[in-house]
Amino acid sequence: DPPLRDLAAAKGKIIGTAVTGGKLTGTYADIAGREFNSLTPGNAMKWESVEPSRGTYNWAEADRIVDFAEAHGQQVRGHTLVWHSQNPGWLTGGSWTPAQFSAIVQDHITTEVGRYKGRLAAWDVVNEPFNEDGTYRQSLFYNHLGPDYIAQALTWARAADPDAKLYINDYNVEGVNAKSTALYNLVKSLKERGVPIDGVGLQAHFILGQIPSTLQQNIQRFADLGVDVAITELDIRMQVPATDAKLAQQAADYKAVMNACVAVARCTGVTVWGFTDSDSWIPDFFEGYGAATPYDENFAPKPAYYAIAQSL
Ligand code: XIL
Repeated sequence: DPPLRDLAAAKGKIIGTAVTGGKLTGTYADIAGREFNSLTPGNAMKWESVEPSRGTYNWAEADRIVDFAEAHGQQVRGHTLVWHSQNPGWLTGGSWTPAQFSAIVQDHITTEVGRYKGRLAAWDVVNEPFNEDGTYRQSLFYNHLGPDYIAQALTWARAADPDAKLYINDYNVEGVNAKSTALYNLVKSLKERGVPIDGVGLQAHFILGQIPSTLQQNIQRFADLGVDVAITELDIRMQVPATDAKLAQQAADYKAVMNACVAVARCTGVTVWGFTDSDSWIPDFFEGYGAATPYDENFAPKPAYYAIAQSL
C-alpha cells in the first residue's frame, strides 16, 4: 500500500503527526518519515522548552525535528508561541508591568519565529485562548495585556517570518458551538482590522463515537471567512482495554474526520497528535483512556490507519 503522505499529496492535503524529537530513530523515525508529509513538535517548541531560564535557549530538540523534516521533504508546523500552559517558571513567577510583559512576549515571538524563518509552513501563534462559554481565558497573556494580546502576537509573528501561515488553535471548537462561534467572531474581526491571520486550527482531541455532527459545516464557515482550516491534533481516545469493536468504531471516527476535511478545499489537512499509542499524551491526562492513535504501541497499524488511507 502507498504511504499516507503519497495519498494525501495526490489530494493536495497535509497528513501530519506530532513527534518527540528524542524518539526520531529506528522504527519510530522510519514511520514518521515514510507516512507523513508534515511534523509538529509535540513539546519541543513550547516556551518552557526553548527558554527554560531567561535568555538561556535550548533549541536542540526543535532543531532536530526541523532538520529531520527537511531531510524527508516534510513541512513543519510550529507549536506554539502564546499559551497559558508549559511556560517557564521565570515568566509565570515574575512580577511584570504590562509594558515589561509586552516586551518579553514580543522578544519571545521575534526570537523563536526568527530562528526558523523561512523553514516552517505554519505557526500556532496563539493556543487555546477561549473558555468553553466563548469568553476569553484568563491567561497570563490576557491578564497582563488584555484581549488584544492576540492581535499583537499575530503582528509580531508576521514581522518575524512573513512566509509562515499564522494560526489560532483551540480545542472543543470542532463543531458549531459557543466556543467555536467566539473563535469565528474573533477571526472575522481580526480580518476586518487587517490583523494578519491565515488560519484556524481545530485540535480535535475526540472521544470514541463522539465526532461532532457539525464538523464539516464548521470547517466550511471558517473557510467562508477567507481563512484556512487545519485539523491540528487529532486523536480519538477510548476506555482501555481496546476491543475489536472499539477499534472498528475508532476507524469509522477517523474516517469521518478525514472526510470532513477532504470535502472542504480550504481544509489544509489533518495532523494526528502522535502516530503511535506509545507516544500519546492520552493515558497520562485522561485516566482509564488510551489507544487513541492510528498505530499501536508496537508500531502495528490499527484499523484507524487503514481508514485514513481509504479517505485519501
Ligand atoms: C501535550 C503534550 O502532548 C504532552 O506531552 C504534554 O505533557 C502536555 O501537552 N493541546 C495542545 C498540546 O495544544 O500542546 C498538548 O500537548 C495537548 C493539548
